[in-house]
Amino acid sequence: MSEPAGASIANVMQETRVFPPPAEFSASSPIGSMEAYQALYDRAKADPEAFWAEYARNELHWFTPFTQTLDWKPPFAKWFVGGKTNASYNCLDRHLNGPNRHKAAIIWEGEPGDERTLTYLQLHREVCKFANVLKGQGIKEGDVVSIYMPLVPELAIAMLACARIGAVHSVIFGGFSAEAIADRNNDAKSKLIITADGGWRRGKLLPLKETVDTALAKSPTVEKCIVFQRVGSKPPMTPGRDLWWHELMEQASAECEATPLDSEAPLFILYTSGSTGKPKGIRHTTAGYNLYVKKTFEWVFEPRPEDVYWCTADCGWITGHSYVVYGPLSSGTTVMMYEGAPNWPAEDRFWAIVEKHRVNILYTAPTAIRSFIKWGDHHVDKHDLSSLRLLGTVGEGINPEAWIWYHRKIGGERCPIVDTWWQTETGGIMMSPLPGATPTKPGSCTKPLPGVFPIILDAQRNPVTTPNQGGWLCIEKPWPGMLRGIWGDDDRYIEQYWSRAPGMYLTGDNARVDDDGYYWIMGRIDDVINVAGHRLSTIEIESALVSHPQVAEAAAVGKPDEVKGQAVTVFVTLKEGEPTPDTKESLKQHVRKEIGALAAPDDIHFAAALPKTRSGKIMRRLLRDIAAGKETVQDTSTLEDYSVLAKLRGDEE
Ligand code: WTA
Repeated sequence: MSEPAGASIANVMQETRVFPPPAEFSASSPIGSMEAYQALYDRAKADPEAFWAEYARNELHWFTPFTQTLDWKPPFAKWFVGGKTNASYNCLDRHLNGPNRHKAAIIWEGEPGDERTLTYLQLHREVCKFANVLKGQGIKEGDVVSIYMPLVPELAIAMLACARIGAVHSVIFGGFSAEAIADRNNDAKSKLIITADGGWRRGKLLPLKETVDTALAKSPTVEKCIVFQRVGSKPPMTPGRDLWWHELMEQASAECEATPLDSEAPLFILYTSGSTGKPKGIRHTTAGYNLYVKKTFEWVFEPRPEDVYWCTADCGWITGHSYVVYGPLSSGTTVMMYEGAPNWPAEDRFWAIVEKHRVNILYTAPTAIRSFIKWGDHHVDKHDLSSLRLLGTVGEGINPEAWIWYHRKIGGERCPIVDTWWQTETGGIMMSPLPGATPTKPGSCTKPLPGVFPIILDAQRNPVTTPNQGGWLCIEKPWPGMLRGIWGDDDRYIEQYWSRAPGMYLTGDNARVDDDGYYWIMGRIDDVINVAGHRLSTIEIESALVSHPQVAEAAAVGKPDEVKGQAVTVFVTLKEGEPTPDTKESLKQHVRKEIGALAAPDDIHFAAALPKTRSGKIMRRLLRDIAAGKETVQDTSTLEDYSVLAKLRGDEE
C-alpha cells in the first residue's frame, strides 16, 4: 500500500447540487430532521456502549442476557459478552407470534419467470428442516459449511439453517471458478458444501455441480455435498458423498430449536480479495453483527410493514448477507429476490419486476445504474415505477451524473437516494443519508450513522481538520458489526487494518469532508494518481468524464511518466457508437473545463467494456498494468470477464 506523499489529495470535484428530503418523507420518518439525527448521533457519542447495549437488549432475543457490553483489547473486540442468542431465531422465530407470521418473507422470481413466495412461517419450517438435515450429516456447532448456489430461496434457507445450529457458513458467489472454491474450502477447512444442479444466467445453464466436482477433487476436508435441484439437469452424483436436497428434506423433521449461541460465536466467513493475491476470510460473529445489520437497515431504509424491499445483490457478497438476509429478515420485512441477469430476456427486466411486485425500496449498485443508462431510457419508460419510494446504492462511488439519472428516471424526482458507504469488513452500512433527515448531494455518502466515528488522517497520521482535504479514512472506535478478524490469520488482520494508523481501523479508502461535514469517498488508497506532485482521486476524473454526454463509464489510472511522475490514463466506454477523430479532444476539453488542465487525460483508450470484479467494481489495478504496458502479475481470480482484459491488451499492441 502506498504511503501518502507530502501533499494531501487535491479536491477538484465541484458538486453543489443539494436535494432536501421530501416533506412527506420527513413527516412520517422516525428520524425526520437533521436535529433528530444529530441528537441520536450525540447520544451515541456520549456513551457508545450504553447506546448499543440498550438496542441489543430490546431488539435481539436473549437466551441468556449479556453481562458486559464491550471487551476491547485492540484490535480484538467482543460485544455483548456472556450473552447467548441466535441469528436464525432473530430472523424467524421472533416473528411467529405476531402480525408477521403469515407475511411474505421472501418473494422470489427465477430468471425463466417462475415465482415462489415464502411466508415467515413457511421459511421457518424450511430452515428447521434443513437444519435437521445438516445435523443428520454430522454438522456440529463451529463446523464450516460452504455454500455455492444460484440466488434461490434455498440459498437463504441454507444460511439460516447453519446459523440455527451454530455452523459457520462460507458463501461462495456462484460465478467463481473451481479453483476459487477449492481455495476457500481449504482455507476454511469446510466439512460440507451445498450447491445446486445448476443455475440460470442470461438463458444459459450454469453447471454449478460440475464446477463443485472439480473443486472437491482438491478439497480434502469436504466430506459431503448436498445438491439442490434447480434446473433439472442430471449431474453425476458420487455415491457416499453427494446427496439430493429434496430427498433429505422429505425425511427431515420440522422441529428444530435454535441453539443458544455465544454472542461471539462465528456466524460466517466471507472471502474478499485482497490487493495481493490470496483472498481473506473476513470473520463475523453472531450478536454484534445481527444487531448492527438490523439497526442500520431500519435507520437507512425505514421499511414500512407493507413494503416490498429489493436489494439486487447476490447472497455471495456482504450486501446479500447483511441486506438481503440478516438485516431485513430480523426486522420482519418482505424481501424481493431475483435469480438472474438484469438484461434477460430484455434490458427492462428490473423495471418489469418493480412494476409486477410493486417494489417500494430498491437497493442496487452504480455498475448496474451505469448499464441502465447505456441501455437507454426507453426500457424504463415501458413500466410503471410509481410504487418506488426510496432508492439506494452501494459498492462503488456513484458518479454525480449517474446519481441524477437514477433520481430523475427511476425515482421520478420523488424518491430520496441513500448512497451507502461500507465494506465487507464493516458488516453493515457506516455512512449514509437518512431518507427523512439528510439533504443529499450527488456523489456524497453524507454523514456517519449513529455510533460510527470516522476520522481522516494526513500523511503524518494527524487528523485532517481543513475542509475538503483528502486523506486516509479511518474509524476511531469499535462498532458491533465490525469484523472480528481474518479466518486463521490474526497477523494479517493486524497488519492490514490496524498497523498503519495505530489504535484505529484503516478502511483503505481515501475521503474528504466538505464545509457541511459531508463525506466524499475518493477511491482506494492504492488508486491515487500523482501528477506533478498533485494527488488526484480516481472518482473525480471519472465523474468528470461520465458527465460528458457520450460517456457511459470511465476508469482513470496513473501511468509512469518521467516528467510528471504519473500521467493520467483513462479507459472510456461510450453510450453508443464509435469514437470519431474528435472524440478524444472533446473528452480532454471536457475534463479541462470540469476539473482543470492538471487532470486532463494524457492517454484515452476506448473500450467496449471495462474489467470488473464479479461484484461489479472497476478493477483499476489491472488497468494500471495495461496502461504501463506490463504483464499482469496480480490476482485475476475475481475478474468477471477475461475477454475484456484480452481486448484491452489487444488495443495496446
Ligand atoms: C467501495 C461493499 C464509494 C469502497 C459493501 C469500499 C464505496 C469498498 C461505496 C468495499 C460508496 C462501497 N461510495 N465507495 N457508497 N460503497 N464502496 O467489501 O472502496 O465489496 O472500501 O463491500 O467498496 O467493498 P465491499
